[in-house]
Order: sequence, then C-alpha cells, then structure tokens
Amino acid sequence: MRDNRYRRQTAAGPQEIVSREIVFKPPPQVHYGSQMMAKLNSLIRPLVQALHPYVPGEQPKIPGLIKLNTNENPYPPSPRVRAAVRAAVDARLRLYPDPSAERLREKLAQLHNCRIENILVSNGSDEGLALAVRGFVEPGMEGDSGTVQYFTPSYSLYPVLADSHGARKNAVPLHPDFSLPSVAELKRGKAWQFHSALTLITTPNAPSGRGYETASLEKLCRAQKGVVVLDEAYVDFARENALALALQFPHVLAARTFSKAYSLCFQRVGYLVGHPGLIGAIHRLRDSYNVNGLGQIAAETTLDDLPYYQGNFKKIIATREELSRELTKLGFRVLPSQTNFILTRPPVYSARQWLAKLRDHKILVRWFSAPEVDSYLRITIGTMAEARLLLTAARQILKR
Ligand SMILES: Cc1ncc(COP(=O)(O)O)c(C=O)c1O
Repeated sequence: MRDNRYRRQTAAGPQEIVSREIVFKPPPQVHYGSQMMAKLNSLIRPLVQALHPYVPGEQPKIPGLIKLNTNENPYPPSPRVRAAVRAAVDARLRLYPDPSAERLREKLAQLHNCRIENILVSNGSDEGLALAVRGFVEPGMEGDSGTVQYFTPSYSLYPVLADSHGARKNAVPLHPDFSLPSVAELKRGKAWQFHSALTLITTPNAPSGRGYETASLEKLCRAQKGVVVLDEAYVDFARENALALALQFPHVLAARTFSKAYSLCFQRVGYLVGHPGLIGAIHRLRDSYNVNGLGQIAAETTLDDLPYYQGNFKKIIATREELSRELTKLGFRVLPSQTNFILTRPPVYSARQWLAKLRDHKILVRWFSAPEVDSYLRITIGTMAEARLLLTAARQILKR
C-alpha cells in the first residue's frame, strides 16, 4: 500500500508532510528532494507509512492559557511527592532503575488486596494498553485472533494501537447516549465479537464521561472469551470501579494510571492488574526498564499520601457539578460525568466555533472531529477559579 499523504505532498513540493492533523516541516537548511523522500519511503514498512498517529491535545508553548484540554489534574502532586522526587535527583541518576518496580508493585498489591504477581507497572497506562495489544492479538490475521475490539466513541488511542500492530479493528457503537449495550443487544446486533482476541473498554467512558455499572461490565466480561481490558483511567472520579473483576476473572485486566487522579502525567506511570498468567506474559514482552526511576519514586510516595489526593477528588467533583449546573443555565447540554471532564453540546455556535472563541479568551478545551461527538466540546475540570473564568468567557461569547 502506498502512502497517499506522501504522494499528495510530493505533488505540492517535498517541503511539507501533511497527515490528518500534524504538520511536519523539515528544518529550512535541509533539502529533502522528492527522489530522496521516495527512496526513504521505500525503507519504511507500508503499515507505518499508512499510519495515522494518535493526536495528543495541545501542550501550549505560550504562557497564561487556561488548560482544560487534556484531562490533567489542576492540583499539583502532594508536597511529600514533590519532596521525594527532588530528594532523588542526585548521583543515583547514573544508575538504572528497579527493572520490575518491586516496591511500587508491593504497595499497589497492598492497596488492591492482591499479590505482587497480579501487577505490572507501565510507562503510563498507554504502554500497558499497547503491551496488551502486542501480547494477545495476532497481527495480520483475519477473524477473532487478529482483532482488537472496542466501543465508539472511546479512547482514540485504541485504533492507533491496532493499526500499528497490523491488527483488525472492530469498533462497535455505544448507544447514542453513550451507555453500554447489554450482552443481549450485542448478540442481536451481530457486529460484536464475543471471541475477539482483545476487547478494550473505557470505563468510565471517555470522551463522554459516562460511568458504567460494575454489574453490566461483569455480564460483558462473563460473555467475552478473549482478553478484556477495563481501562479505568478516570475511575477515581466515579461512583464505582471494576477492579474486582480483574482479580475474579483470569481473562480480565484493569488498566490504571497515576496521570489523572494523582497529578503525575509528567512522570508517566500506569499499571495493569490481573491474573499472574496474563500479567507474566506481558512482563516477558515489556522493556527491561520500562518505568523511569523518578516516576517509581513519585508513584510510591503518592500511595503513602492518599488522603491528599482524595481531598482533590472531592474538589474536582464539586467543581464538575457546579460547572455543569452553570453551563446548563447558559443553554449548554451537559452530559452527566463520572470523570474529571465533561462532554457538552454548546448553544448558538458550533462546537468547533466555540473551540476557537474560547481560545480567543485564552481557554483551551478539546474538540474531536469523530461524527459521534463533533457537536460536543470536552472540557477538563480545572480549579473552581478556572471554572468561573470559563463561565465568564462563555457569557461574554453568548452576549456578542
Ligand atoms: C481512557 C484513557 N486511558 C488511558 C490514558 C493514558 O493515560 P496515561 O498513559 O497518561 O497513563 C488516557 C489518557 O488520556 C485515557 O484518556
């Protein structure tokens, strides 16, 4: 398969490589002749040439923007965590970190009332998800053994992971209100594969924020014959979590992260919980030193300081509820959320226009072009002060 993007850009001149959402401009002093580009392209696997990379939310270079676009926590890591990381910046930076993050896994095992063999720590939960794809899905195979299955909309990384592994994708729509279809509905609908090698379920759902009941997830897990990963990135802001299912069913894993609820995006620490059989398989596959040393220390200390974070969950949930109420008064349709963000359909202007108008007010939010959600904005819950600034901006935009 040839790369259409490359052909398009050679027609226009070789200086700019345009994919769906990113633009790569080679440094001006380097001349990329079209012959050279064609030669280099022939060295790259067709699968990689055709790949649409995951598009992360903007990390702005200009100061002073209110950043409500990537579901980061508005509160810093606890003072103890920051002190522990600072104290670890010493001569030991020359050493490799603990390759199996044993102390962190011990603490996590204690927290979740399981054994250290039930836990794999990863470089963000993204790495755990990628390892699951590599570990359980046969690339290039038609049918169940080669399929990564997920609901749409859900985390937009899943199709990228499937594509980059050469796996088949089976994307099955959620209900229009983003609730989970029942097992009976999935059976009737025929599109769902109960034997798919891997099923990824974002719970609570992103980008809708909708929470799912453990009882419904349990029914789905019972019906599923391949591996199921319950991606619980936002679960600390929800009413229920389904971690018990990962310890109950040998084919179910839970993916968790320190990024969102524990204010550690920068350090990249996540983990998988599940049966030692599956967890052990992923240990064989991962890089030896997949989690950096400072990240391990930050995560360990986080687990010693949980009341600080539980206080922050309460503040974020209170802000989420107040922001939802106030936006509703302004005519926004706000979906109920069990996460640290809301999905909302704005009034008067299109969601895409609101994205630009809020940016003019120095407020970054997120808009997705996928048809199921393109009339919505996803807004991360910041501090109460940030929520009030957002509301002031929204009122001004609506007045004009
Ligand atoms: C649903 C979901 N899962 C996993 C992640 C990955 O989190 P991290 O790799 O930072 O742990 C994200 C990040 O946005 C997410 O939205």
